[in-house]
Amino acid sequence: MAGRIPRQFIDELISRTDIVELINEYVPLKKTGREFTACCPFHDEKTPSFTVSPAKQFFHCFGCGAHGTALGFLMDYEHMDFVEAVHDLADRANLPVPVEAGASSGEQQDSSELYTILEEAAAWFRQQLRQHPDAQHAVNYLKKRGLNGETAATFEMGFAPPGWNNLLQALGKSAGQIKLLLKAGVIIEKEHGGNYDRFRNRIMFPIRDARGRIIGFGGRVLGDDTPKYLNSPETPVFHKGRELYGLYEARKAMRKLERIIVVEGYMDVISLAHHGLRYAVATLGTATTPEHLKRLFRIVPEIVFCFDGDRAGRDAAVRAMENAIPEMREGRQINFMFLPEGEDPDSQIRAEGCSSFEARIAKSVTFSKFFFDHLTTQADITTIEGRARLVELARPRLQRLPPGIFREMMLTRLRELSQLETVKLTSGNKTTTKKQLHGKKRVKSAPSPLRVVVALLLQCPELSVLAGDPQRFRSIGGTGANLLVELLELLQTNPKLKTGALLERWRDKEEGRYLAKLAQWKPPFEDKTGLEAEFSGALARLEQQLNEICTEELLHKAQAGTLSTEEKDRLQQLLSRSKQ
Ligand code: UTP
Ligand code: MN
Repeated sequence: MAGRIPRQFIDELISRTDIVELINEYVPLKKTGREFTACCPFHDEKTPSFTVSPAKQFFHCFGCGAHGTALGFLMDYEHMDFVEAVHDLADRANLPVPVEAGASSGEQQDSSELYTILEEAAAWFRQQLRQHPDAQHAVNYLKKRGLNGETAATFEMGFAPPGWNNLLQALGKSAGQIKLLLKAGVIIEKEHGGNYDRFRNRIMFPIRDARGRIIGFGGRVLGDDTPKYLNSPETPVFHKGRELYGLYEARKAMRKLERIIVVEGYMDVISLAHHGLRYAVATLGTATTPEHLKRLFRIVPEIVFCFDGDRAGRDAAVRAMENAIPEMREGRQINFMFLPEGEDPDSQIRAEGCSSFEARIAKSVTFSKFFFDHLTTQADITTIEGRARLVELARPRLQRLPPGIFREMMLTRLRELSQLETVKLTSGNKTTTKKQLHGKKRVKSAPSPLRVVVALLLQCPELSVLAGDPQRFRSIGGTGANLLVELLELLQTNPKLKTGALLERWRDKEEGRYLAKLAQWKPPFEDKTGLEAEFSGALARLEQQLNEICTEELLHKAQAGTLSTEEKDRLQQLLSRSKQ
């Protein structure tokens, strides 16, 4: 996703944004020397260890290790995704977000046309709900379901009139437009030529992505015909397993979302909102995927799944629970609520109103309780055999929980229930690496000159002018050397890049975490002369390393008798220099 927004734009955004001003809006900052400090918003503390550096355009907490750029701050604090954070900063800076030009932009270009035609189709459906001679049926149907014009407007509901080619005629004015309508999934190609409307005589629900772009539609019949709901097919912009109906509308309606309730249907989301519960979303006829959960947990720490009270509802809940396991950890909460048999959220809130419905949410079952309740329906823990079975059932599932406090506590609960003191999860590679790391830390060796050079460049990108031709460092070999070359080339062509903008270049790359860690290092001196001296020193050591590598190579060649005259001279020079 990051690739679609040009890098130069991210650079400019970071340099135009005053990170101190931005963060100060959320966390009051105090000036202390060159930096600004506060109590860290990402962990509990009494004395401030959260610092913001205007020079580096970077924040860092010495307590919990949180760190990042202005974009990173919005992502962590406001739970935005990358693109949302870019748009937020761009809005603040009053900059339009450009779309990458050039060869790779083909798909993007097509998609922007798709978004436009989908938006036009939605507007046309809306208009039909107001104007079409047959619209009265639709309006009556919505009224019968307890909805009014205001709710219809909030969700921008529309009407696809009866007939085979209403939309086709309204929007398919050219071959190009028809092609787009096909690609957007709102018309269908006939076998023997020609096209027809996908949605006919249905109430239309536009589906928006997290950024508010229309990506598809759901359409409901007015009566009892089948299928009851018709959805857009998968298109380049519409992927059922990823999107959540109502998420955009919920975020728009509530400034600060604290929890989200996940229901099954479009009408449930709309009916809940109509009765004042504005934080419901629906999956689009699929089970909740881990991708859904990841997305939701970026926005809220608490998710409530709402299921019908029947057998199907319980089965769906078990599937949701299994899918949620890899996403569960301390700080995140998932609850399960079950409605009385025969009810769905729509009928339930219509029957009892918002506050009673919210009282049900408050009484919903926690993940841990649901987990063990479900497993103990399959194992009778009053017997030894049953308790052994419980351990057998629970262990592989707990193994899939991310390591941490929550997993430990689930394990403790399993020990209680099974009365087996020694239940252990097989220790994975993680523990061993940790040990190795700790062992390594104790024998602290001096940082390599390469590491020092990179760290100093991150402190003060202007130092790059002192480094000369970056390419020669390649012969040092390894990813570190490649990273240094990349870093230097970038800085030498963009001398004004600040640390923050630099780090954004590596946001989605393996090396990004390494660079961010180095960026947090505090050099013992902060003045330019001190930094320059240190940099020159480290460069000289790197240079020496290069010479050694070169000497090695030339000696090799000399042995093989393949030295050119120039190389002979160079070798001589190198050897005499190393003797000094
Ligand atoms: P339900 O059958 O539970 O319908 O489908 P509902 O939400 O209660 O709808 P109303 O109240 O009768 O209007 C739940 C969800 O399953 C998907 C839709 O996403 C729907 O919102 N579904 C259902 C389909 O995709 N196609 C169908 O034919 C039926
Ligand atoms: Mn229903």
